[in-house]
Amino acid sequence: MSSPKHLPSKYFYDTAGDRLFQEIMHSEEYYPFECELEIFKESTGPLADFITRPEEPLDLIELGAGDCTKSSHLLKYLVRAHTNFTYIPIDISAGIIRYLERELPAGIPAIRVMGLHGEYFEMLEKAAALSNHRKVVMFLGSNLGNMLPDQALNFCCDLRRYLRPRDRAIIGLDLKKNPATVLAAYNDKAGLTRKFNLNLLHRINRELHANFDVDQFQHFPVYDPDTGSCKSYLISLKKQEVALITPGGTRIIHFAENEEIFMEISQKYTVDQINSLARHAGFTPRGMLQDKKKWFVDVIWEVN
Ligand code: TRP
Repeated sequence: MSSPKHLPSKYFYDTAGDRLFQEIMHSEEYYPFECELEIFKESTGPLADFITRPEEPLDLIELGAGDCTKSSHLLKYLVRAHTNFTYIPIDISAGIIRYLERELPAGIPAIRVMGLHGEYFEMLEKAAALSNHRKVVMFLGSNLGNMLPDQALNFCCDLRRYLRPRDRAIIGLDLKKNPATVLAAYNDKAGLTRKFNLNLLHRINRELHANFDVDQFQHFPVYDPDTGSCKSYLISLKKQEVALITPGGTRIIHFAENEEIFMEISQKYTVDQINSLARHAGFTPRGMLQDKKKWFVDVIWEVN
């Protein structure tokens, strides 16, 4: 058992989790979605210029594409500009990939879509084997921010290894800003983020036949303006035991009163920190685009 206890965030997304996540994205306090959407809507041309080269076919890969609300603006623009490209969305959800392969050509005629369903790096390897076209990888929505900073660096180094010199990446990251604004985004008044975190306990109860007393855990988000880490915890409100059935047999987990479970991080960066992350991972920063409030940034990196 790790200390503090930790639940990896990839398990958040069952049916209820997916729905709550969508609701968070559209809640009043959650600003990153709108900020990045604004960048993709208002700066589509500059974004396209950063990734296209005349006469050179392009594979545009998106990690964790979701329903591609944001990237669809770029896709439309590229099709209209007669860019020779294939869009390769990668997602852990097979349903999302089926949806994209059906809906994108309906909405954007003449687009070439090749969806890949699975883990990021396995699918990147597949994508690399599909063609020798120049590649641009998009990783949006502050998804890189859901890794601890040293894990984020490792991830970028790994990403670098699947790419070749001159390939590029578009990375969307949330910037440091007024701490109250950040914290509110992960502690919305309607309680959606609270429900989203507690939903994972419900899921474990259902799928691992566990007996978490969900009411005895408290959602506790914190933002440290110094480190830029926004973390959420669930706090055990009493000394308690939880039983769960794993493939290895029944396990009892002990919680002390006020013991925390670390649920998730959303790391906020400065532009300088992002540039230094790029350099340490073997990329050169080539440009960046921001929303009007300068709360969010999409950076363009080139492989050295
Ligand atoms: N990656 C986004 C962010 O860090 C979205 C996100 C992931 C999120 N998990 C979340 C938002 C949990 C709210 C709660 O902001």
